[in-house]
Amino acid sequence: LSRGISTSGYLHSAIKNVTVIGGGLMGSGIAQVAAQVGNDVTLVDVNDGALQKAKSSIQTSIQRVAKKLYKDNPSEGEKFISNSLGKLNFSLNLKDSVKNADLVIEAIVENLETKHNLFSNIDSVASSKTIFASNTSSLSIQDIASVTSRKDRFIGLHFFNPVPVMKLLEVIRTPETSDDTFKKAMEWGKEIGKVTITCKDTPGFVVNRLLVPFMSEAFKMLERGDATAKDIDIAMKLGAGYPMGPFELADYVGHDTTYFILKGWSEKYPDVPQFKPTETLKKLVNEGKLGVKTGEGIYSYK
Ligand code: CAA
Ligand code: NAD
Repeated sequence: LSRGISTSGYLHSAIKNVTVIGGGLMGSGIAQVAAQVGNDVTLVDVNDGALQKAKSSIQTSIQRVAKKLYKDNPSEGEKFISNSLGKLNFSLNLKDSVKNADLVIEAIVENLETKHNLFSNIDSVASSKTIFASNTSSLSIQDIASVTSRKDRFIGLHFFNPVPVMKLLEVIRTPETSDDTFKKAMEWGKEIGKVTITCKDTPGFVVNRLLVPFMSEAFKMLERGDATAKDIDIAMKLGAGYPMGPFELADYVGHDTTYFILKGWSEKYPDVPQFKPTETLKKLVNEGKLGVKTGEGIYSYK
């Protein structure tokens, strides 16, 4: 964890003012890691309840980070917490929040139309120098950027859950993304302590293109009755070194998220059998058993 976090007070990157839109699971983590290195951060949501929840989850998470980073120096740890929290603003006012941003990162629901509405609304308000980014798990960055007039300043910045812990950042450029935008995004990624990789604007980029079919194959194994969920999870942890088995991971990511990803891909690429959502996944979503966040998925968390 400590290797993944930069805490230097001096910022080298051109990006200093960051606006994160969507204060859920991912947006709150992204806002947190930017504030931890001293960026001025505004977290925006349409829902005040979501902002309150984000505030409290950031407080809990930042305490865990401080405990780890400043094990032997609790008073420095307290300073780190208050400095980071002091860099965070919360807002319901979308247009005001993007006006001074160097970078706007979108982490709202995984739906192309909703993302299009958002980016068309802010394109005319944000400064011409502002870089727009999406944290989409599965949609094409070029498709999302298509409604803006800043396709050269549009990029994919794909984080992983839990954002303060997972060290990877996938940086996705489209054929229209400029070298300058790509360079600034890579520099910022390093400044927030992430290891950056890049790949083409393809479904799921690197991690999800491999991880989502992996979880789906585990569901098929369960449907065939080959083994129990628990044994499949144990097998992949102890036999392949994964930190979580496929069902623990699917419960953690959220079955709704995985379902949206697979549904979108199977509509766009009907010939790829790995992209077809399984019956078990559909059933879990219909029953509202979305995983850890609802207290029940494959396993119970009540
Ligand atoms: N904030 C801050 N710190 C946190 C944290 C959080 N939200 N969650 C865990 N931690 C810290 C803990 O404090 C703990 O620190 P110490 O070592 O100091 O105790 C450390 O991380 C390990 O946590 P735990 O002991 O609670 O549990 P663990 O060892 O099982 O680790 C885990 C938890 C890091 C989540 C690990 O199980 C893991 O890596 N799981 C796989 C996660 C994964 O694959 N994520 C990607 C999902 S796919 C995705 O995100 C992309 C998409 O688009 C869907
Ligand atoms: P979430 O449901 O936890 O949070 C989404 C938030 O966006 C909610 O608080 C909602 O109120 C807010 N919102 C919705 N529409 C909005 C709008 N128009 N303006 C402002 N706020 C709005 O979702 P999440 O899991 O954080 O996922 C967000 C994005 O990140 C999605 O694109 C998802 O695919 C991607 N992602 C998710 C994961 C994961 O593991 N869950 C990992 C990487 C990327």
